[in-house]
Amino acid sequence: MIINEFELDHIGIAVSSLKEGEAFYKTLGLAEPRHESVSKEKVNVAIFGLGNSCNIELIEASSRDSTIAKFIEKKGQGIHHICLRVTDLKKTLNELKGKGVNLIHEEPFVGAHNCLVAFIHPKSTGGVLIELSQPAANNEVSKQ
Ligand code: CO
Repeated sequence: MIINEFELDHIGIAVSSLKEGEAFYKTLGLAEPRHESVSKEKVNVAIFGLGNSCNIELIEASSRDSTIAKFIEKKGQGIHHICLRVTDLKKTLNELKGKGVNLIHEEPFVGAHNCLVAFIHPKSTGGVLIELSQPAANNEVSKQ
């Protein structure tokens, strides 16, 4: 059963420093990124648009106890997660829960640019951390 239109929203890449991480993508020729801080996740992000509504999101820890700091300590810099855009995140999470999928967040929370987001545990996905994101235009937060 199809419960959603899935689209690739962004690829999240853990970097030790945004400044250093951004240098390559600027060399590549991408336009200046948007910057944001997400306090709940203790990260600063730089978002490079790719022109097909997909982004490259560089993620830097803003605190030593950020999951990004721990990730880099364990695995080094590199791809941290992929993010799929969904139309109804709450419904998607309920469906997945019902199917026994291991969710890191059973409830959506507000991520970068007011999107609602939640993560699926890599144990359930074959080793890939998957973020699900519902665009701000589709959620209540953006209407407040
Ligand atoms: Co992300």
